[in-house]
Amino acid sequence: MSEKLAIYGGPKAKTTPNYPMYPGGLEIGEEEKKQVLEALDRKYLFRYYGPEKYPSKVRELEQKFAAKFGAKYALATSSCTGALLSALVACGVGPGDEVLVSGYTFFASCAVVVGAKAIPVICDADETLTVDPEDIERKINPCTKAMVIVHMRGVPCDMNKIMAIAKKHNIKVIEDCAQAIGGTYKGKYLGTFGDCGCFSFQYHKTITAGEGGMIVCNDERTYDRCMSYHDTAACWRPDRFAEQRYEGELFCGSNFRMSELTGAVMLAQFDRLDGLLERMRRNQKIIIDGIKDLKGITPRPRHDDEGDTGICVMFYLDSKDKVNPFVDALRAEGVGASSVYSAGIPDWHIYRHWKHVIEKKTPTSVNCPWDCPYHKGPEVEYSENMCPNMLEYLSRVVTLDVPPQMSVEDCEMIVKGIRKVAEVFA
Ligand SMILES: Cc1ncc(COP(=O)(O)O)c(C=O)c1O
Repeated sequence: MSEKLAIYGGPKAKTTPNYPMYPGGLEIGEEEKKQVLEALDRKYLFRYYGPEKYPSKVRELEQKFAAKFGAKYALATSSCTGALLSALVACGVGPGDEVLVSGYTFFASCAVVVGAKAIPVICDADETLTVDPEDIERKINPCTKAMVIVHMRGVPCDMNKIMAIAKKHNIKVIEDCAQAIGGTYKGKYLGTFGDCGCFSFQYHKTITAGEGGMIVCNDERTYDRCMSYHDTAACWRPDRFAEQRYEGELFCGSNFRMSELTGAVMLAQFDRLDGLLERMRRNQKIIIDGIKDLKGITPRPRHDDEGDTGICVMFYLDSKDKVNPFVDALRAEGVGASSVYSAGIPDWHIYRHWKHVIEKKTPTSVNCPWDCPYHKGPEVEYSENMCPNMLEYLSRVVTLDVPPQMSVEDCEMIVKGIRKVAEVFA
C-alpha cells in the first residue's frame, strides 16, 4: 500500500505548480518580438502592400508551411473557422448538401457547415475519440458532399479507412487539424490526406499568435477558390479586374485574411513547432508508460501511436461513476486532471451541448439550411443521444494536459499521483 491519499490528508504526489496549456504561447520571447518589431518598423502590416516594398511575412509563413507539410499550397487565414469555411466553399459545398461532421470537436467544425449553407450530419466516435468510419459510411446518402473529420486532442483519425470511404463514395474530405498540428498518420502529416487541411493558431493551440489559421491543399483550383473566398472572392487574382479565367472563378466571399503582425508572430512560433512536439511527446510517453499496467485504467487507444502530437493524456476508467472521485483525488494530489463529459455541464466540444444544431436555430425565420428546396434527401434529424458510443466513452474518460514546459520530474510526480489514486479509486 502506498502513501495515504492527499484527499484523506496524506502528502501530495505532485508538489510543483501546474502550467496552463498554452504550449507556444508560454514560449513567446525574443524571436517573436524581433519579427513583430521588424513589421512595425517597416510599417508593413498588410500582406499585399505597404508604404515600401517588403517581402510579406504572411507569404513567407505560407511557403514554410507548405514546404514542411509537403503540400503544394498553403493559405494563411485569420482563424481555423475561416479556414474551414473557405475550404468547404472551395470544395463546392453549398445549399442542398449534407456534410458529415465529427460530434466530438470544438463547435466551429460544425458551425462552418451551416455557414456554407449545408446541413451538418453528426457522426459518432470510436474508442480513440475520433470519428467512427463505420458511422460515416452508415450516414452517407446521395446528398453527402463532404466530411469534416477532426484529429481530436492530437490523435489522428483512422485515415486509411476514411480515405477509402471518401474515394468509394466520391466525397470531399476536409481535415480539421486545429488540435493536431504536426501530427502524422503512418508517417504522413495530418492535413495532407484530404482535399484540404485546416489549422488553428488560437492561443490554446500548440503554436499561436492568439488567433490565426492555415489551409493546405494540393489542387490548384481548390487553392484558388480558398484564396478567393478568404479574400472577398474578387480581390486576389493574377489580374484583379480581368474577366474570370474559368467558370466558377468569380463569386462573393468574406475576409479571413491574416495580418502581417500575426504572420510575424507565427514565423517565430513555426520554428518552435518541432521542439514543442518533442517535449510534449516525451512527457506524454513518460506518463502513459508509467500507468499503462494499472488495473482498471485503459489509456485512450490511437490509430497511430507515433502520430499523436502529445498534447494530452486521456485514459478510461471502467465505470463512469468512478470518474469524478478519481479526478477529485488526483487534483488533491496536485495533478491537474479533469473529466470530459457530464450531461449537465455544457461543453462546446461535445455535440450533445450544440443546442443551436439540435434545435436547428438560425439567425432569421427562414430556416436555412434545414428548410432548403435544394435538399432532396429525408429531413436530417438530431437528438441528444444520437451518438451513444461517443457519450459512453467520454463519460468514462479522465484527461490531463501535457504542457511542454513540464519537466521529467513533473511527469514522474504525475505518474506517482495516478498510481496512488488508482489503488483506491480505479
Ligand atoms: C477542433 C477545432 N476546430 C476548429 C477550431 C476553431 O479554431 P479558431 O479558433 O482558430 O477558429 C478549434 C479551436 O478551438 C478547434 O479546437
